[in-house]
Amino acid sequence: MKDTELAQIALTHDHTGAIANPIYLSTAYQHPSLGQSTGYDYTRTKNPTRSAFEESFAKLERGIASFATSSGMAAIQLICNLFKPNDEILVSFDLYGGTFRLFDYYEQQYGIQFKYVDFLNYEEVTNQITANTKALFIEPISNPQMIAIDVEPYYQLAQKHQLLTIIDNTFLTPYLSTPLEEGADIVLHSATKYIGGHNDVLAGVVTVKDDKLAQQLFDFHNMIGATLSPLDSYLLQRGLKTLHLRIERSQSNAQQLAAKCQDLEAIDQVLYSGRTGMLSLRLNKNYNVAKFLESLDICIFAESLGGTETLITFPYTQTHVDMPDSEKDKRGIDEQLIRLSIGIEDYTDIERDIIQALKHAYVGGIL
Ligand SMILES: Cc1ncc(COP(=O)(O)O)c(C=O)c1O
Repeated sequence: MKDTELAQIALTHDHTGAIANPIYLSTAYQHPSLGQSTGYDYTRTKNPTRSAFEESFAKLERGIASFATSSGMAAIQLICNLFKPNDEILVSFDLYGGTFRLFDYYEQQYGIQFKYVDFLNYEEVTNQITANTKALFIEPISNPQMIAIDVEPYYQLAQKHQLLTIIDNTFLTPYLSTPLEEGADIVLHSATKYIGGHNDVLAGVVTVKDDKLAQQLFDFHNMIGATLSPLDSYLLQRGLKTLHLRIERSQSNAQQLAAKCQDLEAIDQVLYSGRTGMLSLRLNKNYNVAKFLESLDICIFAESLGGTETLITFPYTQTHVDMPDSEKDKRGIDEQLIRLSIGIEDYTDIERDIIQALKHAYVGGIL
């Protein structure tokens, strides 16, 4: 069912019979007369190509409205506007470094309080809830430790305390999980990743299922203006058409690699949730990460994820660069940790490349 929905997402059904959606570049729209509108006035507010993506994405997420933003961070920033000074948000302890950086800034600048909690520990989370707590912000598969959280009990907890549950679903995508159906209030993605899927669009998307939240976010989106361009909106829609195929393939490649790495002497720790194409590896101390990255032939040392190519990232100086060392320490983000976004290449090529790069990375010594 989702496969068909994805393959045929947002067919236009316009009078031309076009299969692919038109890209409306016009920023302004002629009014039939004073006080009248075609539904489109100015592109920041609404654009037909962006609307086509947003409407089809909202359906895919089982929500009522989506908002396409100019990056994943803009999606998170859009959501932050729902909160005011002294509001508290409980946040996944292990999460994307850019989100940590933004929350840190918002705390210092605007007084919104972000408390980092371990969502594996239900009791700890419950104990942190106060009268000021307004939301839970969860990465259901955390970045970079790949910790899988059972979110279900938190939907009930949130309901009991009237908290918003916000899910960063970038890793799982609507193909593997639709949190709004399960009880979440807001779902966001860095659409730069699996949604776009080809490392050529920077984008984000926020989806909700409640009319009031939808209206608030619509107003903020228009007011702030970090909306997605028509061309990028088109590219996201095109990327979605193959989401199921890409996820299945990268997930199967990642599962095989995770199993293989368990047996490798060079690998100290395999961090994998069993789902998606995302896994992290901690190399043993007698393997040099810089040498490993320089020796790759097929996998690419680059900072992103969710595309067709296998990318390898070094969180210590890349995704989590602005996290203080003491915080990195607590999360096991050290100089032996690499994060892999497994692509859709032939699995044997990926495995061979990693094994040869590990051989080059060996610096000797004792384990
Ligand atoms: C889980 C997660 N959320 C949000 C973001 C931010 O997205 P963007 O880079 O599109 O701004 C990222 C980026 O890597 C991410 O991994």
